Amino acid sequence: MIVLREVSKTYQRGAVAIHALRGVNLVIESGEFLAITGKSGCGKSTLLHLIGGLEPPSAGQIVVAGRDLSRLSEVELTLFRRDLVGVVFQTFNLLPLLTLEENVALPRVLQGASFHQARDEARQWLAEVGLSDRRQHKPHQVSGGEMQRAAIARALINRPAVILADEPTGNLDSGTGAGILELFAHLHQHHRHTVIIVTHAPEAAAHAGRVLRLHDGQIQP
Ligand SMILES: Nc1ncnc2c1ncn2[C@@H]1O[C@H](COP(=O)(O)OP(=O)(O)OP(=O)(O)O)[C@@H](O)[C@H]1O
Ligand SMILES: [Mg+2]
Repeated sequence: MIVLREVSKTYQRGAVAIHALRGVNLVIESGEFLAITGKSGCGKSTLLHLIGGLEPPSAGQIVVAGRDLSRLSEVELTLFRRDLVGVVFQTFNLLPLLTLEENVALPRVLQGASFHQARDEARQWLAEVGLSDRRQHKPHQVSGGEMQRAAIARALINRPAVILADEPTGNLDSGTGAGILELFAHLHQHHRHTVIIVTHAPEAAAHAGRVLRLHDGQIQP
């Protein structure tokens, strides 16, 4: 379960304070598939980053899987990000010199798995996202949709409790994007992670159990 209590985030740009999130209260049940929508600048990415422990809130409390993020040490926070959260970005963020298989295996290696173990698991996850025949390709040798599927496999290999996806279909044509959303829905059905996805795609609402609208740093009723 994820709980946010009166969470605010203010960015200071010179003399200007930008209130990216303003007193957000939110409970996300384990295994929920939540879509977040809202206009550009309303705070969607900020909300994901805070839940993923990528930045701290300015005020309020965030509890993810029983951990109060503000009480974790730097080391505990690093382990939290490595083991409990999988992140998928709009721009895929695959390492260009590594094959898809190596990209997917990397988080498992960082977690301490042997090379062979990590490679075998990477192959399983690549099969699960339909990329078995592309595992030796480099990112520039595959399509955008395939890169994103590899990025999803990479986010899942450490079996995180929570998947955070920030506009994962933003750089894809609508047909490919719809396929990626179906993949998220399929993986969610099989593995029951908590999935939080920022998206403008109208199809997302069809897959998500709940759609949250943010407006100006607050959740719209
Ligand atoms: N590191 C930062 N420093 C200063 N201001 C920031 C920073 N990150 C975000 N902001 C500001 O906080 C507000 C919310 O940003 P955020 O990235 O969460 O919006 P968003 O809803 O994800 O927008 P988009 O749909 O364009 O991605 C915006 O006004 C943005 O300019
Ligand atoms: Mg954003």
